[in-house]
Amino acid sequence: MAKHHSALGLATTLRPVQPVTLIRPHAAARAARFFVEKFPGRAMYAVKANPSPDLLQVLWDAGITHYDVASLGEVRLVSRTIPDATLCFMHPVKAEEAIAEAYFDHGCRTFSLDSIEELQKIMRATQGATDLTLCVRLRVSSDHSKLSLAAKFGAAPGETKELLFAARQAADALGICFHVGSQAMSPEAYSNAIERVREAIVEAAVTVDVVDVGGGFPSAYPGMEPPALERYFDTIHRAWESLPISYSAELWAEPGRALCAEYSSLIVRVEKRRGDELFINDGAYGALFDAAHIGWRFPVRLLREPDSNARDMEFSFYGPTCDDLDHMTGPFELPADVRAGDYIEIGMLGAYGAAMRTAFNGFGSDETVIVTDEPMASLYLDAAERREASNVVTL
Ligand SMILES: Cc1ncc(COP(=O)(O)O)c(C=O)c1O
Repeated sequence: MAKHHSALGLATTLRPVQPVTLIRPHAAARAARFFVEKFPGRAMYAVKANPSPDLLQVLWDAGITHYDVASLGEVRLVSRTIPDATLCFMHPVKAEEAIAEAYFDHGCRTFSLDSIEELQKIMRATQGATDLTLCVRLRVSSDHSKLSLAAKFGAAPGETKELLFAARQAADALGICFHVGSQAMSPEAYSNAIERVREAIVEAAVTVDVVDVGGGFPSAYPGMEPPALERYFDTIHRAWESLPISYSAELWAEPGRALCAEYSSLIVRVEKRRGDELFINDGAYGALFDAAHIGWRFPVRLLREPDSNARDMEFSFYGPTCDDLDHMTGPFELPADVRAGDYIEIGMLGAYGAAMRTAFNGFGSDETVIVTDEPMASLYLDAAERREASNVVTL
């Protein structure tokens, strides 16, 4: 893969016609080491956030050994890319064939479930296996999160007793898991959910071997600057220590976004300006799905030399397809003299954005370049490191 020192250098020397995905393996490795060293339990990686095999390898090399997979495609991908990885199939609704292949062909022993029917499916598909870690997913609030995951999955309070009891009978190790929603903006999201775990354990009176606090750990975006991750870890650790579980019980987490948001950004070209609207060459059907469909704001900066002296103003973006939906409201703050032919870096697209690209309407490009400069925002650089890195933007 081509390598370049910086996004600015790449845009100004190569002047790419197609959008270019920039990847920063050093940023993903730094995030992984942070979780491996500081999370007070085991941090796995939620593969759905970005299934790039290169990224999986970077995370593995940085110490992530367990991978949360949610589909047979992800099971096969991780198995092929990192044969020694431990797979945890954490989608609570799975095809029986997928469970069987994960168990018999890929060595997966950990499965999540939120209903008796799913438990029966797992037991049938694994032919009554006795070496399973079964994680019962509880439904918890997404109140502190920017993206709710509260409606679709999870056993409700009235259902957990029977389910925990049945799963305990079938499991070698019994776990309880939850997801507080993505981009949780307060550590309280986790302490509140762990309170639900306590109630469920007390009510069912079962021995629990694993508590898995799921994903939801935030990253930094404009208008969404979360508290330091250490505060999340402290809150989780304190709440976990007070649970009625044995000393040998394990604490797990499944971060997706927090491990890969800083991994990737995108260079786009402005093809046309109409007032405060910029027509760029990537959009809703490319890496900017979240910007278009849920109004997510990403950091942006103009890549021009010499730099513009104009004051910033707010722009919205149109993507390249012939579709009105291909519109990103932003607002995105850029110098007021932005014009057709300029390049813009859109940052923090490593989580979900990069994973959801399509080639709809003939647009989109697979061109990927490694850069060694810093991501446009970071939860892993301290204040001094941020000042030193000239390309880190103020959110
Ligand atoms: C079961 C599960 N675990 C982990 C994640 C990763 O979440 P996040 O990217 O918010 O950390 C998700 C995301 O949807 C999920 O469904």
